[in-house]
Amino acid sequence: MSSSSSTRVSQLGAAGLLAALLAAIRLHFHDCFVQGCDGSLLLDTFDGMESEKDARPNNGSARGFEVVDAAKAALEDACPGVVSCADILAIAAEISVELSGGPGWNVLLGRLDSFTSSKADAENLPGPFDGLDVLRAKFRNATLDDTTDLVALSGGHTFGRVQCQFVTGRLYNFSGTNQPDPTLDATYRAFLSQRCPRNGDGTSLNDLDPTTPDNFDKNYFTNLEVNRGFLQSDQELKSDPGAAGTTAPIVDRFAGSQEAFFSSFVTSMIKMGNIRPITDPSQGEVRNRCAFVNSN
Ligand code: HEM
Ligand SMILES: *[C@@H]1O[C@H](CO)[C@@H](O)[C@H](O)[C@H]1NC(C)=O
Ligand SMILES: *[C@@H]1O[C@H](CO)[C@@H](O)[C@H](O)[C@H]1NC(C)=O
Ligand SMILES: *[C@@H]1O[C@H](CO)[C@@H](O)[C@H](O)[C@H]1NC(C)=O
Repeated sequence: MSSSSSTRVSQLGAAGLLAALLAAIRLHFHDCFVQGCDGSLLLDTFDGMESEKDARPNNGSARGFEVVDAAKAALEDACPGVVSCADILAIAAEISVELSGGPGWNVLLGRLDSFTSSKADAENLPGPFDGLDVLRAKFRNATLDDTTDLVALSGGHTFGRVQCQFVTGRLYNFSGTNQPDPTLDATYRAFLSQRCPRNGDGTSLNDLDPTTPDNFDKNYFTNLEVNRGFLQSDQELKSDPGAAGTTAPIVDRFAGSQEAFFSSFVTSMIKMGNIRPITDPSQGEVRNRCAFVNSN
């Protein structure tokens, strides 16, 4: 897979730029959960080291690489060798939230970019069909909290898009039962069934938050309260039998207070952005181009 580094930010237009920014917060998440926040996700395959972009959670799913590459090219023109690709993802994540009406925060900088990537670890990223126990274990493994950080960061699904293929199982054949997911609100199920027919195009896009698709607000959580989470991994934060004493009370708290959500979200984003940064110059570098190590 290759990204077109010839795209310029100015060619994207406002809508394209916003879409790519929303995608960038997910890139930051997928970067930080694999080897830490080190830009490993952005590397193309080289020297037999397979790109994380080709891992199942990213292939055909992670978007926005061209904007990161374009931002990098502009930065290298203005100020060569200063801003790492890992830092660009952290900055883009913050901007996407703030421009969409969410909270702002000071982004800690100084991460270096890795010399390596790990497709194998990327295969292990949290997935939309993971059970609550698995999601919690993956967040713990990433040195995050398995309740507050998990719920707050899942609030990133208050904006952005999602493909039909991630909901058709819940609509038509949940866990092989040939029945819909019983935790899915019937009206929302009817709406999604129109948009995502049983044998339709699995790549069609939907809003993760149909109430305010482009706003960063607490509606992700108010949706969960009425069984209108899009992904299984969203709804189980509220509805899984194991959620009662763990994640569900936090969903309730955030549904009731946007301030509480924003405050936890900022704390959790900073925590996620601090996962295993490379600061030793013998272990990392500021890449010239995000898809390649400098020696390549
Ligand atoms: C808790 C585990 C998580 C799972 C299982 C998960 C899963 C997914 C999936 C399956 C998609 C749709 C991708 C596609 O349609 O190709 C998605 C989109 C998205 N996710 Fe997550 N996610 C999780 C956590 C997060 C976190 C922590 C953030 C950010 C803080 C985040 C932000 C986003 C955004 C903004 C999108 C939309 C991207 C776009 O419009 O291109 N997600 N996620
Ligand atoms: C990535 O997805 C494309 C399109 O679905 C597929 O053709 C390709 O084989 C996938 N690549 C890998 C490495 O799995
Ligand atoms: C847990 O983290 C380690 C190191 O960060 C990683 O290599 C491993 O794949 C992770 N395991 C799971 C199940 O996510
Ligand atoms: C429903 O899912 C089960 C298990 O994944 C599968 O064996 C079965 O073929 C599916 N049914 C239909 C009609 O697709």
